[in-house]
Amino acid sequence: MRAVVYEAFRAPPAVTTVDDPAPPAHGAVVRVEASGLCRSDWHGWMGHDPDIRAFPHVPGHELAGVVEAVGADVRGWRPGARVTVPFVCACGACEQCAAGHEQICDRQRQPGFTHWGSFAELVALDWADVNLVALPDAVDSAAAAGLGCRFATAYRAVVQVGRAQPGEWVAVHGCGGVGLSAVMIAAALGARVAALDVADGALEAARRAGAEVAVRAGADVRELTGGGAHVSLDAIGAEAACAASIRGLRKRGRHVQVGLLPEPPRLPMDLVIARELELLGSHGMAARAYPELLALVEAGRLRPGDLVTREIALDDVPAALAAMGEAGPPGVTIVRP
Ligand SMILES: NC(=O)c1ccc[n+]([C@@H]2O[C@H](COP(=O)([O-])OP(=O)(O)OC[C@H]3O[C@@H](n4cnc5c(N)ncnc54)[C@H](O)[C@@H]3O)[C@@H](O)[C@H]2O)c1
Ligand SMILES: [Zn+2]
Ligand SMILES: [Zn+2]
Repeated sequence: MRAVVYEAFRAPPAVTTVDDPAPPAHGAVVRVEASGLCRSDWHGWMGHDPDIRAFPHVPGHELAGVVEAVGADVRGWRPGARVTVPFVCACGACEQCAAGHEQICDRQRQPGFTHWGSFAELVALDWADVNLVALPDAVDSAAAAGLGCRFATAYRAVVQVGRAQPGEWVAVHGCGGVGLSAVMIAAALGARVAALDVADGALEAARRAGAEVAVRAGADVRELTGGGAHVSLDAIGAEAACAASIRGLRKRGRHVQVGLLPEPPRLPMDLVIARELELLGSHGMAARAYPELLALVEAGRLRPGDLVTREIALDDVPAALAAMGEAGPPGVTIVRP
């Protein structure tokens, strides 16, 4: 198969031909139809993710496609099924999985991190019966790819972890793939959304996704929202954004950390005490939580496809990945292998 491969952190990736993967006994191989380019792929390439331990490595973790083959122990899936998969592939058997917290599985496997990923024609996935999610016909692959990582992560962050309610203010710091997804989800829920970014194109996209207020980072969120946000997300992964998110909350507000912070940030913990704030982390979303999200997508209340602004080929990925150190185009980029 053709795949995007890199031989070391920060070494220029290349598109080459490598062996086709075989499914693990409990897993599946999926023919990739679409794969989103997420900032976590860039973090991985930069060496920020300790799960990448072996080279050559194939990145990519946000995908939709068609089951090509299944392992001998798989019961629920056959070749031909259209699927997506949470990037956290859970074992289904550890203490966290038993408690229903598959998104933080103790033995999790992540395509594009713990093993080869989806910037390829084929990708092997673990524990298919636990993790594969069937896609409704109405949801096309470009829209569905985001359900593998950023759209689903944003859904969990806003709805399950942030517990945003209709009429509440939700602040979203950073309006890339995660942030725009969060804006769309929070607005569909009936929350009032304040979006912040450094790029005008991202702010314009946030308005289209349903933000009531979309302003340059640095704006005073407590002023914009008449007292502060009830829920606020760092959807970037930067000390300044994380601190601004915490400062913009009203008393007893909930900060949800989604962006990856390579270095431990310095934060206004004095405000966390004085305003009784909650600091929460959110990591992907378990397959068991997808039906609720898919129902909203199928009903047209959530439209992840509207966030896609660019489709590229495998051959374009090396340059696109390397360019993520600089400001990129607004919206979501989808790779079509
Ligand atoms: N927790 C999880 O499970 C999870 C899942 C997916 C992604 N992530 C992480 O979420 C983060 C966002 O990923 P993405 O793919 O949406 O990124 P992205 O690159 O698409 O978007 C980042 C956005 O932040 C904006 N930005 C940059 N600096 C800013 C600043 N100082 N203030 C305001 N805006 C700023 C950019 O203009 C851009 O619009 C990354 O750190 C990624 O690794 C975490
Ligand atoms: Zn587990
Ligand atoms: Zn991702």
